[in-house]
Amino acid sequence: MPVTDVVELILADHRTFERLFRELRDSLGDRAEHQRELSGLLVAHAVAEEREVYPALRRYLDDSVIEHGSEEHLDGHQALLDLLESPEVGSAHWRARLDHLEETIAHHLDEEEQAILHQATRSVPEPVRTDLGRAFVRIRERELTADCGSPDRVREPVRALARD
Ligand SMILES: [Fe+2]
Ligand SMILES: [Fe+2]
Repeated sequence: MPVTDVVELILADHRTFERLFRELRDSLGDRAEHQRELSGLLVAHAVAEEREVYPALRRYLDDSVIEHGSEEHLDGHQALLDLLESPEVGSAHWRARLDHLEETIAHHLDEEEQAILHQATRSVPEPVRTDLGRAFVRIRERELTADCGSPDRVREPVRALARD
């Protein structure tokens, strides 16, 4: 049976992000392709967390923890957009932006795992985690199909933030 515990699904994506960052550092790899893959997955993952997972976890965790996670998603989208807008994949400019994105995401994954997922495993009943896992996968797939990692789509939340 496929894994549907939402915590396990989220952790699996986090490890995939780390693998894609490693692959992006390899100058012999297809960096443009890895960048497309990373961008789509980062956005689909964050959207699925915010639409399905974070709202449901408000019953079990402090609001401030959830709100902080959402703020960090916006930081991640901004850093991702900066990378996507870098004119030349592989240039020194691009690598500096990749460094910043990796730091921003690593910080978020660490905090999300410590402050949200660890607590969710302890407080959220297993059937709820399973239902949330199915909902997480549904939104994530829908976003990936809609090319959610394209620069135009990544710009949307960043613009919304700038308007606040
Ligand atoms: Fe996550
Ligand atoms: Fe997240």
